[in-house]
Amino acid sequence: MTNDGENGREVLVLLGGAGDLALRMLLPSLYFLEVDRLLPHDLRIIGVARGEGDGDSYKALVREQLGKRATVEEAAWARLAARLDYLSVDMTQNEGAALLAERVGEHGSLVVYFALSPSLYGPVCNALQAAGLTGPKSRLVLEKPIGRDLESSRKTNAAVGAVVGEEQIFRIDHYLGKETVQNLTALRFANVLFEPLWDRNTIDHVQITIAETEKVGDRWPYYDEYGALRDMVQNHMLQLLCLVAMEAPSGFDPDAVRDEKVKVLRSLRPFSKDTVAHDTVRGQYVAGVVEGGAREGYLEEVGKASKTETFVAMKVAIDNWRWDGVPFFLRTGKNLPDRRTQIVVQFKPLPHNIFGQATDGDLFSNRLVIDLQPDENIVLTLMNKRPGLSEEGMRLQSLPLSLSFSQSGGRRRIAYEKLFLDVFRGDRTLFVRRDEVEQAWKFIDGVSAAWAAANIEPAPYAAGTWGPQSSSALISPGGRSWKA
Ligand code: BG6
Repeated sequence: MTNDGENGREVLVLLGGAGDLALRMLLPSLYFLEVDRLLPHDLRIIGVARGEGDGDSYKALVREQLGKRATVEEAAWARLAARLDYLSVDMTQNEGAALLAERVGEHGSLVVYFALSPSLYGPVCNALQAAGLTGPKSRLVLEKPIGRDLESSRKTNAAVGAVVGEEQIFRIDHYLGKETVQNLTALRFANVLFEPLWDRNTIDHVQITIAETEKVGDRWPYYDEYGALRDMVQNHMLQLLCLVAMEAPSGFDPDAVRDEKVKVLRSLRPFSKDTVAHDTVRGQYVAGVVEGGAREGYLEEVGKASKTETFVAMKVAIDNWRWDGVPFFLRTGKNLPDRRTQIVVQFKPLPHNIFGQATDGDLFSNRLVIDLQPDENIVLTLMNKRPGLSEEGMRLQSLPLSLSFSQSGGRRRIAYEKLFLDVFRGDRTLFVRRDEVEQAWKFIDGVSAAWAAANIEPAPYAAGTWGPQSSSALISPGGRSWKA
């Protein structure tokens, strides 16, 4: 974090500092950065929440949570603990923010991380402003979801935009901090091989899957309001789609990259009442078995009637020159058989087989598979000759050309580690710009409006299966299928 030549220590304020996200993801990320000595050397970290407590009890809580996820290195923990402080205040009130300002005191750069319910963003911003904490040295980091639809996201963006400039706002989509997501950009734009093939002439279709074995569980009060469409498609899935589909930016800088992503979002063909039944699938899990364990149905978990979807699949068209006629199939859901985040770029079949009929069954179209989770791999399948001699003449086989990142550098980083470093450096390339968020909501609002107009309710699927039957039917025309 540069402190712009000002005096005073750098300060990171974690609002929602005792919440699930902070304890499970944010503080462990800071700890791992501490292990690698990547944190700004004079950084102070203040956890803020409403619950009673002080610096010591907060440190004990953070230490206990860290122990659940890693073998803690005592020296690194001691360095992190020395930075940690805790403040118990209500940040929606001016008095609370004034106490925070007092605790922050003289400072260089100030990063305020909103790990809070988005409904609080507006009131907290006003209180921060009243306390003088929104000056040019401040950066605000906002967790998703920014709003629940276009209108509410505009309101939230306007409330935040009223107290700081866009260049001070860092909207997180933690998928953009994942190693392989960044590698996708490197693969596309640091090689000459793929770009000439990356369009409707060579690519048959693209699949993007984010499958989770997790149930909704205790998160249902939030989730029931949002569902898979708003929780996953609006942000993570559309971001992945943008990175696959965008044009080459003029440079790897915030506006150049985000300009290209917005163009993709603007090109998404909206669903209508007539297309939505055929081109989307909406599902909700019922009781079943996942990874050998019995799971309740979603309705049992929430304990009331609900029409919230826990699974979505859709066939998305991108109306531009590059992608005309190339479907992008998206699917995501909870309580699925596998944890898997994967992008599949399926190339077209050979125009003509010169090797004779005997090899017809040997031929597979080339495929590029980008695995983000649980493993980080990029695999290109290529056809080649089966080794050895055969009476039938030459036979062919498909073999993978594989780049595996899992072994290349020890521990796998939490996506938030990279994003914290970028916030400290003031680099917004991997954060989402206001117009991007709003354009994505516009598309998502269209999906939910079309579902409402066509009376599409979630179809049941048993926990531990790949969503409703109709998900296979969605992709099957043209002999396509989801990659197993
Ligand atoms: C979050 C969603 O944004 O992403 C969760 O709110 C989801 O519902 C999570 O489980 C998935 O993230 P990851 O990094 O575990 O794939």
